[in-house]
Amino acid sequence: MTRIYRLSPSILSADFSKLGEQVRILEDAGAPWLHIDVMDGQFVPPVSFGDVVIRSVRPVSKMFFDVHMMVTEPDRFVDDYAKAGADMFTVHAEACAHLDRTLQHIHESGMKAGVALNPATPLQVLDYVLDKVDMVLIMTVNPGYGGQKYIPSMTAKIRDLRRKLDEAGYQDLPIEVDGGINASTIDTVLDAGASVIVAGSAVFRGDIAKNASDLMKRIHEKEISGS
Ligand code: DX5
Ligand code: ZN
Repeated sequence: MTRIYRLSPSILSADFSKLGEQVRILEDAGAPWLHIDVMDGQFVPPVSFGDVVIRSVRPVSKMFFDVHMMVTEPDRFVDDYAKAGADMFTVHAEACAHLDRTLQHIHESGMKAGVALNPATPLQVLDYVLDKVDMVLIMTVNPGYGGQKYIPSMTAKIRDLRRKLDEAGYQDLPIEVDGGINASTIDTVLDAGASVIVAGSAVFRGDIAKNASDLMKRIHEKEISGS
């Protein structure tokens, strides 16, 4: 296996009156992943949507559903989201009392398991669960809202995590970054070692297909130039 490089457009910034149509535009533009932000009004202040939305988009798209659970005790939702059609289920380390058990539960349900870390959360929380993790999500803003500014100190965190993973033998484990990624910040995170790039406002503001293909081009250039 080699490390995956992907754009994962976040539907949080989509026009929900045209959700199916906008997802199809992205799929036709060649975006392989779709980032789906679930918020419960408790772990983060806003409420977004849940498995009902995933279930209704699933039949119109073959994209890989990359579900980001910004919810307290996400273990409660594992089975429902697997049934709804989620492919990757990413939980926040800060939101799980029993992270190791939750990761096992996600795998038993047939989904891939991701772990997300808020900006202030140290990388050490990953130390004893790495063998159960399919992707690490580094939040590059504080979660809860689209359209925020990239936090510059996260560049060193991405670099530290990449080094840590490489040294521990996890060269292929992808780092996803989420928050404030656009044409001006994408090269910084790619150079630091991220390979799955979430973008919400940078994709959905303006020409969706063009925005997505411009960002995918930058990701592909990094992929072929070698990490
Ligand atoms: C933030 C969400 C993000 C958000 C990113 O809490 O997890 O996925 O939609 O939005 P942008 O790309 O606009 O920062
Ligand atoms: Zn997200």
